[in-house]
Amino acid sequence: MDKRKVIYDCDPGHDDAIALLIGLASEKLDIVAITTSAGNQTQDRTYTNVKGLLSLVKREDIPVGRGAEKPLKRNLIIADYIHGKTGIDGAELPLPTVEDRKLKALDLMVEILRKSDEKVTIVATGPQTNVAILLMAYPELKEKIEAIVFMGGACFGGNYTPNSEFNIYVDPEAADIVASSGVPVYMFGLDVTLKAQFFKEDAEAVKKLGTETSRVIGGLLDFFSNKIAQPFLAPEGHIEGMHLHDACAMAYLVDPDMFTMVHTNLSVNTQDGLGLGQTVVDYNNKSKKEKNAWVGFDLDMDKFRALVKESIAKFD
Ligand code: RIB
Ligand code: CA
Repeated sequence: MDKRKVIYDCDPGHDDAIALLIGLASEKLDIVAITTSAGNQTQDRTYTNVKGLLSLVKREDIPVGRGAEKPLKRNLIIADYIHGKTGIDGAELPLPTVEDRKLKALDLMVEILRKSDEKVTIVATGPQTNVAILLMAYPELKEKIEAIVFMGGACFGGNYTPNSEFNIYVDPEAADIVASSGVPVYMFGLDVTLKAQFFKEDAEAVKKLGTETSRVIGGLLDFFSNKIAQPFLAPEGHIEGMHLHDACAMAYLVDPDMFTMVHTNLSVNTQDGLGLGQTVVDYNNKSKKEKNAWVGFDLDMDKFRALVKESIAKFD
């Protein structure tokens, strides 16, 4: 079976790291490049973190392109209050073992899209600045993009402002360019990612794997859990869990049936004010506008938890 080619644009970031492991572990996906965005931390740190993660899982063969230092027109906002000083606190990542090729995200994306015989899927789990620059600078390459699958936004309720989710709020203009690009988009917003729970028992199961990867990821999960675990109303009542937002985007490519998706019109508010960065999801099709996005609203949490653990277990 031919693997789906994927360019992964991310800002690791604890949950970005889990998404990367899911992508690398899957027999269905070929992560042909990784590009780094600034969001959870500055570009310096997210770029360093990607290289450390690839060193950890012995995949330094994958080219890494350093992306934009800041959003298209706004100042950078970082989420160090969640992800810490390094952007991936709790994870003792090894140093890279290969020389830094100093590739640029845009050049890497363009080269791959131009050279690929088949369409390439872009997964984006940070602010979408790099993807927007690609779409603006090389519109002719849109036909080489299968889909843009992103974590970001929310139909109901934000996590950075009352109306907006962090990734979109950091660069709303970029998200608007992506949503209105004409490339099929798959949105995994807070409506579904807050249900993508990973529990302390899951983290303990990871640590019991006894591998170097599981030790490092165990430290990552412990830090992340302490930062964002919140009571989650499950059938058996409130239980502590951490929501692995970004993992949803990559998990969808591995097992789409795990998710409940709605085809609808998606637009992004770029007007300054209370609504800045809001993803307007026309769930009831009141606008009668073109349905440009598939938006996730539910997932099979047990399948999700199992996929995360199975993926981590595939690495030494
Ligand atoms: O709002 C959640 C998003 O912000 C995730 O992508 C997380 O990594 C942070 O970037
Ligand atoms: Ca992220």
